[in-house]
Parts: sequence; structure tokens; C-alpha cells
Amino acid sequence: MNAPNETLEPPKTLRPRPKLGLGNAWIGQEEELLVSQVLRTKRPFRYTYDLAPEEQGTMTATLERETREKMQVGYALAVTSGTAALETALAALGIGPGDEVIVPAWSWVSCFTSVVRMGALPVLAEIDETFCLAKGEITRLVTPRTKAVMVLHYQGVAADMDDLMAEARAAGIRVIEDCAQSIGATYRGRHAGTIGDIGIYSYQFQKSITSGEGGMVVTQDARLYERAVRFHDLGFLRPHHALFVTPECGDFCGAQYRMNELTGAVALAQFRKLDKMRAHCRALSRRILSGINDLPGLEFRRIPDPDGDSGFEIYFCLESADLAQEFSRQLHARNVNCSKMTGTYCQYERGYCKNRATYHPASSPFAKFTEWPAPGYRAEDFPKTEALVHRFVSLPLGVLYTGDDADYITETVREVHREIFAANGHIALE
Ligand SMILES: Cc1ncc(COP(=O)(O)O)c(C=O)c1O
Repeated sequence: MNAPNETLEPPKTLRPRPKLGLGNAWIGQEEELLVSQVLRTKRPFRYTYDLAPEEQGTMTATLERETREKMQVGYALAVTSGTAALETALAALGIGPGDEVIVPAWSWVSCFTSVVRMGALPVLAEIDETFCLAKGEITRLVTPRTKAVMVLHYQGVAADMDDLMAEARAAGIRVIEDCAQSIGATYRGRHAGTIGDIGIYSYQFQKSITSGEGGMVVTQDARLYERAVRFHDLGFLRPHHALFVTPECGDFCGAQYRMNELTGAVALAQFRKLDKMRAHCRALSRRILSGINDLPGLEFRRIPDPDGDSGFEIYFCLESADLAQEFSRQLHARNVNCSKMTGTYCQYERGYCKNRATYHPASSPFAKFTEWPAPGYRAEDFPKTEALVHRFVSLPLGVLYTGDDADYITETVREVHREIFAANGHIALE
């Protein structure tokens, strides 16, 4: 009789798991240099009055200028976070109590909470196989109270902007583009964030480029810029910003979301690395996709403009949630990273949506609903979204991944596919 282990194959030595990371993995001398420049000047505040308005805020102002130039957009305003940027964008559009904003149900916490914080009602919408807002949802959900739609460009990929813009314009509402996860992504040659009325980026730690925390608001509209500047700085329009826009609105009560110069220095150094980082991830993603896109049974995420995506995460769906879970389990066991890199969940599954609590009951846009959860805030109201979000596998890529990593991922996806479908036996094998 054989010894117990004799018939087993010798254990394979696994390839080391590649290290994840986007901008954060490339923090280096460039960031150090700019941060030390700020420290040497002893001016970490952007509006120092010993300098003329045009010289104030070397790092933040340069970041804003380079953003305007790169994104081909008229105005850019640095703020403290992507969430602050969303609130600033909503405030710039004058959105408040009594208003409704259409938001994809599958989105980040602050897509919902920023609307609620402004006193407005988030109206949840379905996503489609792009993992972004589905076409037809604006038309379905618009009411006389709808002021805007928040289009989220999910994980490096721009949404179906031509169709969504046409719908929003037909409905007479404004478009906020949330590009927190998609800085640098383009749609038919235009930068995500610059197609609608106002857009935002985030420099939080897990984003493509990072200063730990930080954000940016962009717009082509001078008045929206003036209102954004005022909202982010206690209602003021300081002389530096008056260089770009002639003031027309008076002071109003704003928030305090100003970016400081140290954050600006890191964000600026990172911003200058954006193209290189995108090129690296896009090349890896193309290499993997070309090796797995023939596999039967995998439905790949639809990318409305494949020339513009950032390529740092590949998504495909399987027939069932169980199959997707098993696929991910087996990839993970072979040292292929496959956890999704965002905290994106369905809003109707989150605690604040389930209990409709706000920081003060009088500020709640949900008070008018006699029953809760009201229709539109329950999983059963989102059949399309539910049919997608439990069945996907994601393959995050990163700046430290190599071509060999990409080839290993390709081979491993094929191997796991072969084994899973052989075990399930219902799809022709390669
Ligand atoms: C889609 C989306 N919007 C907004 C934000 C908010 O950005 P921040 O974390 O910088 O506040 C995030 C951050 O995760 C996000 O993913």
C-alpha cells in the first residue's frame, strides 16, 4: 500500500503575490522635494498675505493650473477631499432642501451622504454592465424636484456619457461627474469630469494618485467656480481666485474645505505621474484581456470607450454568485489578487440608508416618507443592479505589477476557468 502522500502531486511552489498599489506605491523623491520646498518657505497655508495674489499657494495653485491644462477645463479648485469636493459641487449648483439628485445605487458612501448633508434627497438608480449608471434611469426617475444627476465613473472607466448627457439635458437637470476613482480616464477624447456641468477628483490614499487625502473640483462655468470657491472657503472669494473670475455673487455661509500647501505638494508630484501610471496599468490590462477574452462563460464589463479607460481593474461576471465566489477563491489560493479595490456597495445595504438617520432629524430629506424603507431604497427595487453585483470577479492591477505577473494572471484565470467549468460541466471547455 502506498504511503498516504505518495499518490499526491508534489505541492507547487506558488509565485509570490504581487503587491497592490497605485499612486501610493510610487511616492518617492518627487513628493519629498516639493514638500521640502513648502517647509523651507514656511508657508503651508495657501493664502499668505505677504505675497501678491498671483504668487500665493505655489503648490495648490500649480496643481490647479496643471489640472486645467491637462484636463482642458476652464476652472479647477483644490479642496480637502473627494467628499468635500462633492459637497462643494452640490453647493455650487445650489442644491439643497426639497431637491432631488439621482445617484447610482452602486456607489461610494459619500455619493449618498453628500446629497443628504446638503439637505437634498438622493434618488437611487440602477447600474448596467458598465457598472455605472444605466441608460434610461434619468428619464425614469426624474421629477419636477430633480436638480441633478451624479454620474459615477466607476473604477477607472468613464460611463456612457453621450447617452447620459443627452438624457440629462432632455430632462433639464445638471450633471455632476464623480471621478474620484477615475482621474485621467477619458471618454471619446475628453477627460472624465469635464463633460458634465461640474466634476470632482479624489486624492485619497487608495485612489490613482494620492496625497493621503485631498480633492479637486473642475468646471467650465465661471459662476459655478465662484460659488465653489466661496462654499469651500467660508463664503469668501479671496483675491487669488478673483484673478480667474469677476465676482458676481455676494458672500454666503460656506464650509472650510481649503487644501493646504503640503497636501498640494504631494498631490502635484503625483499628478505629474498620472500618465505614466495609466500607461503601465493599461498595458497590463490589455495583455491580460487579450489572453482571457475568449473564455466561454465570462461576461466582461462593458467599457463604453475602451481607448479611455485607466486599466487598473478588470471585471468579469459569471453565471451565478456561487460560481463567482468559487472562481475568486481559487484565484486567491493561487496568489492572484482578486478583491475589489473600492468600498463600493449598494447604498440600500448600508446602515445609514436602512435607518435613514441624519445628524439632525430636522435636516432629514427622508422625513416625508411614512414607511421606511420606502420603495426605491430596497434591494428588490433594483433587479438589474442585484443581477450584476453578486456575480463579478475583479482583478486589480497596480504599478508594481510586471509583464510576468500579467502572464501569470492570464494563465491562472485560464486554469481556474478550466477546472471550474470541468467540475460544473455545463460549458464547452477550451
Ligand atoms: C466614487 C467616490 N466618490 C467620492 C469619494 C470620496 O473621496 P474621499 O475619500 O477623498 O473623500 C470616493 C472615495 O472613495 C469615491 O470612491
